[in-house]
Amino acid sequence: MTASFGPSYVRAIAPYVAGKPISEVAREFGLDEASIVKLASNENPLGMPESAQHAMAQAASELGRYPDANAFELKSALSERYGVPAEWITLGNGSNDILEIAAHAFVEKGQSIIYAQYSFAVYALATQGLGARAIVVPAVRYGHDLDAMLAAITDDTRLIFVANPNNPTGTFIEGPKLEAFLDKVPRSVAVVLDEAYTEYLPQEKRYDSIAWVRRYPNLLVSRTFSKAFGLAGLRVGFAIAQPELTDLLNRLRQPFNVNTLAQAAAIAALNDTAFLEKSAALNAQGYRRLTEAFDKLCLEYVPSDGNFVLVRVGNDDSAGNRVNLALLKQGVIVRPVGNYGLPQWLRITIGLPEENEAFIAALEKTLAAA
Ligand SMILES: Cc1ncc(COP(=O)(O)O)c(C=O)c1O
Repeated sequence: MTASFGPSYVRAIAPYVAGKPISEVAREFGLDEASIVKLASNENPLGMPESAQHAMAQAASELGRYPDANAFELKSALSERYGVPAEWITLGNGSNDILEIAAHAFVEKGQSIIYAQYSFAVYALATQGLGARAIVVPAVRYGHDLDAMLAAITDDTRLIFVANPNNPTGTFIEGPKLEAFLDKVPRSVAVVLDEAYTEYLPQEKRYDSIAWVRRYPNLLVSRTFSKAFGLAGLRVGFAIAQPELTDLLNRLRQPFNVNTLAQAAAIAALNDTAFLEKSAALNAQGYRRLTEAFDKLCLEYVPSDGNFVLVRVGNDDSAGNRVNLALLKQGVIVRPVGNYGLPQWLRITIGLPEENEAFIAALEKTLAAA
């Protein structure tokens, strides 16, 4: 008999599928890397802010030493920016790290974690990885059904993941609705409010989740430097929560989980408000252009508050993969979302104007040929 290594709940995990790298698509399809447009991983099309590049260059001489395990300077900058004590902040190797650590810190094997259908894939992975039970609450119009999520809480529920805006659907929950939800969640259940895309929200949609952290000891707000701040490759995310939750995270966090260059770059990016504003403005402009093209092509899309749009490219369950392949052959990388149970859809990251145009032209050509 062959032995099976690892717990059955780990063997049952379907690994995370990342966006295809440009180099891989160039090799596979015989294309020139420079001609390829990647709109697959919700990265900032402006790349990394110059201020962060400069900060990294200066920090490079420190690389013979370990990073500051407590990230004093970055935490001080975050503390000042968000108006919370540094002791309420935990850094992660990307916010993905925060989501994983939170699941392991708050939940025991066999207990349950609630998240919404079509919400970010890492919630399912984190749940499965610790042998917890997933309660997946059906989405309403591709977004979270908060009332149903409340109703789904059982005696053994220890954590609820909420993504706002959500990836891959881009749906958004208004502040007052979230606040009413937080008010009703029992204090024995932690809520991770994942705000990876919050910096893209227009002024009128913003809400003060940090004020909620002060009010709700069971709330953890998760943010990232990967999206609007433009530092996806460096891997920096952070959590803001009261000391009881923060203390638990700190017990599990790897001591040096955010490297020296990443800490230096994040401080610079945090203070680079001009870059942040430019990123949000470019995103809003690209969203208008993409959705205008979808309207013209009579394609259904989910209104999005992120830096991406989910669009339905056909009515049969092979549509997403078929159109994706046709786009890849034309050097355009987007994200199929069949793994989310959305096989008729593709998720398009909003790019630079010329990247958006290249995608629209390739899509028009693909659909015309169908
Ligand atoms: C909703 C959401 N949360 C968290 C993350 C994790 O991002 P990172 O680990 O780069 O901070 C992503 C990345 O796409 C996301 O879409």
